[in-house]
Amino acid sequence: MSEKKRILGMSAADKARLLQSMKGEVVQAPPSRALTRVVSPDLLRFDTLPAYTQIAVQKAVGEKLGVPDPYYVCHDSLSQAEARIAGKRYLNFSCYDYLGLNGDSRILARVAEAATRYGFSASASRLTAGERPPHRALETRIASLYGTEDCLTFVSGHATNMSTIATLFGPQDVIFHDKASHNSLIIGAKLSGAARFSFSNNDIAALRTLLEQHRHSFQRALIVTEGLFGMDGVICRLPELVALKKEFGCFLMVDEAHSMGTLGEKGLGVREHFQLSADAVDIWMGTLSKTFCGCGGFIAGSSVLVEILKYHAPGFVYSVGMPPMMAEASLAAIDYMLSEPWRVAQLHANSQTMLRLAREAGLDTGRADGYAVIPVMVGDSVTAVILANKLREAGILVLPIIYPGVEEGRARLRFFVSQTHSVEQISAAVEKTAELLPLARAEAQNFVQ
Ligand SMILES: Cc1ncc(COP(=O)(O)O)c(C=O)c1O
Repeated sequence: MSEKKRILGMSAADKARLLQSMKGEVVQAPPSRALTRVVSPDLLRFDTLPAYTQIAVQKAVGEKLGVPDPYYVCHDSLSQAEARIAGKRYLNFSCYDYLGLNGDSRILARVAEAATRYGFSASASRLTAGERPPHRALETRIASLYGTEDCLTFVSGHATNMSTIATLFGPQDVIFHDKASHNSLIIGAKLSGAARFSFSNNDIAALRTLLEQHRHSFQRALIVTEGLFGMDGVICRLPELVALKKEFGCFLMVDEAHSMGTLGEKGLGVREHFQLSADAVDIWMGTLSKTFCGCGGFIAGSSVLVEILKYHAPGFVYSVGMPPMMAEASLAAIDYMLSEPWRVAQLHANSQTMLRLAREAGLDTGRADGYAVIPVMVGDSVTAVILANKLREAGILVLPIIYPGVEEGRARLRFFVSQTHSVEQISAAVEKTAELLPLARAEAQNFVQ
């Protein structure tokens, strides 16, 4: 069977459903009967849920394209600039170990020591099971990075955002968020019950208009942004956001998941990048899962803010404390980020190299500023999935970002650059991407027609 036939071998209905799903439209399951006294058996099955139908359709598309599921791939061992999957070596651009500290033998020794002393688990919420020295040591250290009064760490970066926003704000309040904000920020805003308004990525004029129109109708107001946008590699316009928050009487929250370790000479994030004072921002949020090679998230700010979260944020109060050994891992990573500044310098150099080479090769890197996250804009989701698969076959690991991660039509491959990549590895990845993109586009075109 020819390649073309194999790709086009879907029924028209299946293909329509697939394309609908790739465009981000929720694919509805067959309508079930209206609720009567007898509950339809359809409503007792999970496979009639629209979420499942969407997954099933996307998997069917993948099968028709001959593309294996790019997600949940099992790596054989520690993945840095290179990864091993099922015994095969890959150039790896799919992990956010920005400073190459994950697996560092010195950190491992400290983790082992902490595990020996405190065990593997915090065994319950810190409220009930108490704390271990690495918890407060890590929080004090992060607070000192920012120059804030205090800091609180959660077991999940996602839960940090959700819990914090939903705890602090309510239906009488309003949240203005950048459209490119991470899912955890948006879900937090939804959960809070506050009114929500979004503005296009980094569009300060649009935010001003929203503030002029709506700020006065609510009690408290929050402006939400990311330091370095994780999907686009774009730095937020922090000084202008700070000015607006002052002018309109709002709180400002910055998610530094991708900017801590990647921005500023010392890696201290967007605050260092713009040389701002700590109190320019009310809520500094970050994750421990990227530069700090651990797991969880943090909020740094005033001691009152931390006190509120410590007693009210559900993701902290009703969730297990971070394993002390993981707190130690992040603490050690901070030590090495500060004592080995060449790591940050190397990451900056690598990122700028990748951006320059990609542009020279004619790849569309969107508005990326050249810090750790370099997207290659592809357009439609089908092309992105095919291209990622072709690269994987060529020994290069990079994940496609498709709807609902980004709006349909803005699908991309997202390259995470690390300090550990060599220039040769970066240029090999760029070269292959540029070579395979036209082939992926042609294959996707065949499929869509
Ligand atoms: C901007 C941003 N915020 C929050 C999170 C959630 O963090 P975690 O994965 O550590 O839970 C992520 C995850 O990648 C992120 O990119």
